[in-house]
Amino acid sequence: MCNVIDGKALAEKIKQGVRERADLYEKKYGRRIGLAVIRAGNDPASEIYVRSKIKACESCNISSFSYVFGDNVEKSELLELIGKLNSDPAVHGILVQLPLPKHLDEREILSAVSPRKDADGFHVINAGKLFLGERGGVTACTPRGIIELIKSVGTDIAGKHAVVLGRSNIVGKPVAALLLQNDATVTVCHSRTVGLKDITLTADILISAVGKKHIVTKDMVKKGAVVIDVGMNRVDGKLYGDVDFDGVKDVAGYITPVPGGVGPMTVAMLLANTADGAFDE
Ligand code: GUN
Repeated sequence: MCNVIDGKALAEKIKQGVRERADLYEKKYGRRIGLAVIRAGNDPASEIYVRSKIKACESCNISSFSYVFGDNVEKSELLELIGKLNSDPAVHGILVQLPLPKHLDEREILSAVSPRKDADGFHVINAGKLFLGERGGVTACTPRGIIELIKSVGTDIAGKHAVVLGRSNIVGKPVAALLLQNDATVTVCHSRTVGLKDITLTADILISAVGKKHIVTKDMVKKGAVVIDVGMNRVDGKLYGDVDFDGVKDVAGYITPVPGGVGPMTVAMLLANTADGAFDE
């Protein structure tokens, strides 16, 4: 049996640090740090995520401002709201929960958020800064959380072969860039990758962000590898990761559970990004 990485406990520690910074901010400036959360459409998973983000704000002394729109929301409504929030001094971070309803262009909406208030790090300027290794940008929450999880078990990322499954803008691409910044040798695999198992078997660090229940099985994992499961797959009302935990735990050195691994870290990093934004003003 390998070691299970407790993402919930690590996230609590990070949130405690955010809370201390938020208290300090309030003392210094006489107002609280604020995060605006925008949700459009009725994706049930988004509803759960947004609720947990708002709850986390409360526990960290951060004000949350929630905006909920229906499936038929017009682009102009969202752009108008984002414009207002961009110039609202009570708002230090703005989050647009994804996915947006299909008729909207996600990139256009995300690009309307001021890069300085982009708590998710999805704006093209922040994504670009990450890829160029420039300081001062906002780093996407889940990738930032993944790096913290890996470092929390004492793994030195430099020189390791890190294999990332999935090439999304939210996780796969930015986590690959962060691993590269930490001097890993990085391979990104995706739906068209040939010989996937041969590649994953050489991974010292294996990150799965595909969104398919149990696609990573025991026979695909190198003995002692650090396995990070980003999957949140709801099947018949139950939550499953991308990784077949029960099998993989017998070969991995460290593994994150679902739930209780990456998920809580994403929320903690969102709050950390928001606090960073407030102090950077
Ligand atoms: N949808 C899935 N993951 C995320 C995330 O980290 N942030 C936002 N805004 N939407 C998401």
